[in-house]
Amino acid sequence: MAVTALLSSQARALLEADRGLLAELAYGLRGPFHVLFPDRFEANLRAFRAVMKAVGVEGQIHYAKKANKAACFVERCAEEGAGVDVASVGELRDALGHGVRGERIVVTGPAKADELLRLATHHGCLITVDSLDELERVARLEARIMLRALPPGRPHSRFGMTAEELDTALRRRGRARLEGFSFHLTGYDPAERAEVAAWLVEWCERTASPAVDTISIGGGFAVDYTGRPVDITGHRFHADRAFTDFYPYHSSVSGPDALRAVLSTGGLGRRLRERGIRLLIEPGRALLDQAGMTVFQVQGVKARDYGIITVDGTSLSLSEQWFNSEFLPEPRPVPVRPGGPFEACVGGASCLESDLLTWRRITLPGRPRAGDLLVYPNTAGYQMDSNESRFHELPLPPKVVIEADGRWRLDRAPS
Ligand SMILES: Cc1ncc(COP(=O)(O)O)c(C=O)c1O
Repeated sequence: MAVTALLSSQARALLEADRGLLAELAYGLRGPFHVLFPDRFEANLRAFRAVMKAVGVEGQIHYAKKANKAACFVERCAEEGAGVDVASVGELRDALGHGVRGERIVVTGPAKADELLRLATHHGCLITVDSLDELERVARLEARIMLRALPPGRPHSRFGMTAEELDTALRRRGRARLEGFSFHLTGYDPAERAEVAAWLVEWCERTASPAVDTISIGGGFAVDYTGRPVDITGHRFHADRAFTDFYPYHSSVSGPDALRAVLSTGGLGRRLRERGIRLLIEPGRALLDQAGMTVFQVQGVKARDYGIITVDGTSLSLSEQWFNSEFLPEPRPVPVRPGGPFEACVGGASCLESDLLTWRRITLPGRPRAGDLLVYPNTAGYQMDSNESRFHELPLPPKVVIEADGRWRLDRAPS
């Protein structure tokens, strides 16, 4: 069964305009590029907010900036009064530079550089303290802080502090102002997230201080890429490669619904409301759902017992390929060539055997030709730019912002 991606109406319209805007951009930009839909990002933001409002929970959404480097998403955060989650001086500067106020920025990441701690303190950001030795450095500053707890069910996580360390931290705050607790949790199970969140509420209560009134439950709201279960049993991969681990491309509870599920587990939402606890969330992938696509041009097609399509970019623009895994949602050919099923994998324009954008032998409606486009859907969350480099002196794919009225612009002015 094909792994067909869900598409927003905006993405579909672009794909269906055969020799339209995408072909014009491919001609003008002379290489692969990303398209971004900031209106969709804003709609996702509002949908998360609506859940908080419906449940009656006070709080703030912080966009996890690491999921995409584009400026347009951070600009929307500034315009909408949303926050941003940053983990480096570069990310902090970029968020501030696009108008996000310091008080709406949370600083995460382990063992943060002194420069980051200083800058964050000057701007009144909320710093997530991950260890006792980090606390020692922060305690000298008049910083707003949360203490990051190690979830009891995840003893092997490298993030956060044990209960014993948290107890010590509560006694060693120095000049820092404690506002609450947070955690890092890998995975997408709403029940587990709710359970750890409830435990953080207990930590707030233990401090017996009304100023300690905030918990941050991180991101990890699943994205549904396909709208139906993914079944690739029997599918074959180039060079008979086998993968064992994939992102869960289908989730029946995803995005804002996953937040609703977290808040309804064990009455968490009610508990937060009754005790006046503020909820912070840090979604990355879920805010970027349907907020972008990646466009490559076919450079050549080789026919063996299956086809090998080579495109004009590399798998560095599809980060999943660098985690011993595969981005399963299939690329859409533009135009759609008739002629009968054409089975192929998709390789990058590099001299590396391992540079495959799609190892799986997917079936296109017909054999593509050089100059056709292959468009990977829904790539804004983590796929586009985490790993991009100028390998082979290939230019970094530019990001093209598509406005609500269909006009386009580059995400950042050329320098
Ligand atoms: C502290 C923190 N916040 C937010 C996120 C974003 O997660 P996601 O993009 O799955 O929502 C992560 C993911 O690693 C994280 O560690």
